[in-house]
Amino acid sequence: MKITLSLIKADIGSIGGHLRPSKALLDTVGEYIEGEKDKLVIDYRIGSTGDDIAILFSHQKGTGNSEIHKLAWDAFMAGTAKAKEEGLYGAGQDLLKNAFSGNIKGLGPAVAEMEFEERENEPFICFCADKTDPGAFNLPLYLGFADPMHCSGLILSPKMSKGFKFEIMDVEYTKNDRFIELNAPEDLYDIAALLRDNERFVISKIYSRENGEQAVAASTTRLHNIAGTYTGKDDPVMLVRVQGSFPAAGEVLSPYSIGHYVAGFMRGSHNGPLMPVKAGCGTSFFDGPPIVTAAGYCVHNGKFTEAVDCFDHPYWDHVRRKVARKATELREQGFSGAAMLPYSELEYGGIVDKMKRLESKFKS
Ligand code: F6R
Ligand code: MG
Ligand code: MG
Repeated sequence: MKITLSLIKADIGSIGGHLRPSKALLDTVGEYIEGEKDKLVIDYRIGSTGDDIAILFSHQKGTGNSEIHKLAWDAFMAGTAKAKEEGLYGAGQDLLKNAFSGNIKGLGPAVAEMEFEERENEPFICFCADKTDPGAFNLPLYLGFADPMHCSGLILSPKMSKGFKFEIMDVEYTKNDRFIELNAPEDLYDIAALLRDNERFVISKIYSRENGEQAVAASTTRLHNIAGTYTGKDDPVMLVRVQGSFPAAGEVLSPYSIGHYVAGFMRGSHNGPLMPVKAGCGTSFFDGPPIVTAAGYCVHNGKFTEAVDCFDHPYWDHVRRKVARKATELREQGFSGAAMLPYSELEYGGIVDKMKRLESKFKS
């Protein structure tokens, strides 16, 4: 059976600043979809990561389908009304346009979608990150799909020995989608050369070279490219099919043990280590640290199993302590150097005005 998974996420309001959505808000989004779903979707799940709400749909309408996108948009609009009623902070923050125009991409919410023929057993993982941007998934995907230091299947499994094809997008190019396809292992150094720059080059898809099947779909939206000004960080989502000719769940999860430094954190303007957290976790220290959740499912005839919260395991407590230490160490240098993002990536315009004012005071 051919199905489509659509994972669509937005920040439409939260409690105590940009920390976590309210239960009533999650319920409202859920109730809206429950009321409308029969016509369109086979199944759905809703969860939160930091201040964002993510909706996972299974359906048979293909990727980029306007009815599915409208359902998500309308659910977020219903949620925004609730967020306003409750007085939540940043109500409707990520809904950048007033009206739906056929595709939710480019309107604010992050979207990851994949259409495929269901395998007999179809395990996959939904990743949602907050207080960071789509480049945050570059390193974990590179390591999980192209490096035998994390993905032992590359040397142990005959189904994976041909490696994977990476589609990498130039997200600074805003006229249309501009991407390159590169193959691991032979193009590894070229892939690494691009992925070095997480703010410009972002992995959008990965395919098995054994059977051409798509393993990964990641969101590539950059909000400041849509709005032209700061409206929040781009908080990405990603779908990863696992097992068989794809890496095992544990191989895909393994790189999150690093707590690598990503862009985001306070005011979307700092670097911070990515902390793997439990589903529904909010943000806290310095509006962060940047966090990622991972929900594992199987889908069968379009119906989802219950979720397994992949980072809810004693092993990740140990990782979280390390990541907290890394966050504290970088925060000790405040605004200086590597702690804050380069000028071009600062998400608040205030410093631009400040620099203009100071410029006129320079003497030579
Ligand atoms: C980062 C984020 C927060 C806010 C910060 C200030 O993605 O959401 O760090 O940037 O709390 O928020 P405002 O400007 O809404 O007061
Ligand atoms: Mg927010
Ligand atoms: Mg967010």
